[in-house]
Amino acid sequence: MTRPANRPVRVGIVGAGMIGQDHARRLCTMLAGAQVTAVADADLGRAQQVAGSLPDARALPTGHDVVASAAVDAVLVTSSGPTHEEFVLAAIGAAKPVFCEKPLAPTPEACLRIVEAEMAGGRRLVQVGFMRRYDDGYRAMKQAVDDGLIGAPLLAHCVHRNATSPPTFTSDMPLTDSAVHEMDVVRWLLADEVTALSVLAGRRSGYAPAQLRDPQLLLMETTSGVHVDVEVFVNCQYGYDVRCELVGETGTVSLPGPAAPVLRSGGAVSAPVAADWRQRFARAYDAELQDWVNSVRDGQGTGPSSWDGYAAAAVARAALTALDSGQRTPVVMKGRPGFYG
Ligand SMILES: NC(=O)c1ccc[n+]([C@@H]2O[C@H](COP(=O)([O-])OP(=O)(O)OC[C@H]3O[C@@H](n4cnc5c(N)ncnc54)[C@H](O)[C@@H]3O)[C@@H](O)[C@H]2O)c1
Repeated sequence: MTRPANRPVRVGIVGAGMIGQDHARRLCTMLAGAQVTAVADADLGRAQQVAGSLPDARALPTGHDVVASAAVDAVLVTSSGPTHEEFVLAAIGAAKPVFCEKPLAPTPEACLRIVEAEMAGGRRLVQVGFMRRYDDGYRAMKQAVDDGLIGAPLLAHCVHRNATSPPTFTSDMPLTDSAVHEMDVVRWLLADEVTALSVLAGRRSGYAPAQLRDPQLLLMETTSGVHVDVEVFVNCQYGYDVRCELVGETGTVSLPGPAAPVLRSGGAVSAPVAADWRQRFARAYDAELQDWVNSVRDGQGTGPSSWDGYAAAAVARAALTALDSGQRTPVVMKGRPGFYG
């Protein structure tokens, strides 16, 4: 399908929940070169409500109608994780570029089916929503590593804290929903693969729901022997706090603190902590979606790939085994095909 060069990219959205609505607003009001033309949700009323709030969109009965619509050039999949595979595969089948929120799919096997379908089509069509790769702080860290400013990386220390978790959060979700961002960003920062990991769940916070082991500590090992510790604590109460420090042979590099005003008053120095991920990573979400729109316009897939989605799922699978068994667990992963560079 050829798109006229000067026409905005017409985006169809599958899944009009929290992040689907956020991304719809971004595409329509903040970013350049896109319009939202179709919206579907399992809750048709929600799809109608969201489509009605956008200038050029209409609600369609199902996600498959969105993918097939002649008014849709590219698809944004923001439905719940277990439904991603069918819509991403449908978009690949229709040769339409697709941005899929993380997780690409809940299991490595499902992710591999997407990888294989994309490779069979011969062109990169899938971008996965690992937005931290677009955060200014992480990008500056990567630049420092790539420029050799800290020497060979040896260790990394990461913290991932949320003020509170949804009441339905279970003990696997700090790994598959939260720390999965560290599993991806560490691969990207270090240009290395995670080969094994251990997970410790010790004393439980009294503020965590009864079914949730919170906090948890991960120790990831990479191919080159870098050790990465990650604290994931999803009921820390005080705010959303993400930290990362890389330690190299000749120096270290860390994420800067959030760019927030520092208050000196009443004999104290204080600065606000982000309330949640939407606030902390707002600019990164803008940048990732703009990059996607530009890549659709240019006909050249960029950004985190379906292979990255597969790798994160493979690491998350090992993390779940490690949590259950209490044992160091190898990551089972295929070799990266040349198709993914
Ligand atoms: N990158 C990030 O930082 C980030 C942040 C939040 C959410 N996410 C991911 O985005 C996805 C959505 O999360 P959310 O917080 O918006 O969830 P949500 O529950 O608010 O929204 C999901 C929506 O999908 C709809 N849906 C479910 N099955 C569907 C189907 N078969 N067809 C069409 N619609 C369907 C639901 O009705 C709901 O409206 C999840 O995969 C989540 O992990 C990523």
